[in-house]
Amino acid sequence: MAFPAWFDQKFGPHTVPLYRDEVRNTDAQVETLAGVAGSAAAGPLLDLCCGWGRHALALARRGYRVVGLDGSRYFLEKLSAEITPADRLRLAPVRGDMRCIPLAAGSMASVFQMYTSFGYGTAAPDDMEVLSGVYRVLKPGGYYLLDMINWTLARRAFDGNFEEEYEEFDVVEQCRIDPRADLLRIKRALLYRDGRRPHIYEFEIRMFSRARLAAMLEDAGFRVVDFWGDFNRGSYKAERSLRMIALCRKESG
Ligand SMILES: C[S@@+](CC[C@H](N)C(=O)[O-])C[C@H]1O[C@@H](n2cnc3c(N)ncnc32)[C@H](O)[C@@H]1O
Repeated sequence: MAFPAWFDQKFGPHTVPLYRDEVRNTDAQVETLAGVAGSAAAGPLLDLCCGWGRHALALARRGYRVVGLDGSRYFLEKLSAEITPADRLRLAPVRGDMRCIPLAAGSMASVFQMYTSFGYGTAAPDDMEVLSGVYRVLKPGGYYLLDMINWTLARRAFDGNFEEEYEEFDVVEQCRIDPRADLLRIKRALLYRDGRRPHIYEFEIRMFSRARLAAMLEDAGFRVVDFWGDFNRGSYKAERSLRMIALCRKESG
């Protein structure tokens, strides 16, 4: 399966600074993920679409065995550059596509998919393949935590033109919602202050309501345990939560 043309533009070195605000949440998120995973003895974890491994590496350093799978060549190189020989005993970075997870059935104790990594770089019909793949690799009794932006709020807030300042560049972007396709289309330019050529790319993300996501998770075989609105396990509220975090379980037997 091929990645779309914009994939390496979007998930490359230029875009790392764009995660600036989100990265501040990492420690609190890792705490919650460890709570979901439970004991490290339960088995290995999969960080699906792990990026440069901000969660995967922290979990490995807490004693979990972790597979970090991502499609971005650059993000995995960045992760590999940070890993020490001791980390390598517990963390395996894998370049791959979430649509065909290269792991054995029932091999993972928990699967985490963080920061709206679902509905990206894939066609809509592939979404069920991703969820079925996660279900397949999970052990019976294992948890799948899928962390998404709250699209009910975001689809209102993101329809427009935006500018934001970063250390090296300004970001100028045009965001358009296509309500019929449930798509957010973004044209983005990073305008460097040092006179470098602007980095310009376009991409799209599919948006999901809670009801739609819950139905898909159930179709894939999961029991939806809860929807949180934040990493303190607060209940999801469509009108005010920033996140929509689905916690699901592959029931045993
Ligand atoms: C918004 S980033 C989140 C990264 C990471 N989970 C985090 O929280 O820092 C989305 C990630 O999904 C990955 N990704 C998107 N589509 C993918 C696919 N089809 N297969 C594997 N990785 C994919 C990207 O490379 C990127 O690292």
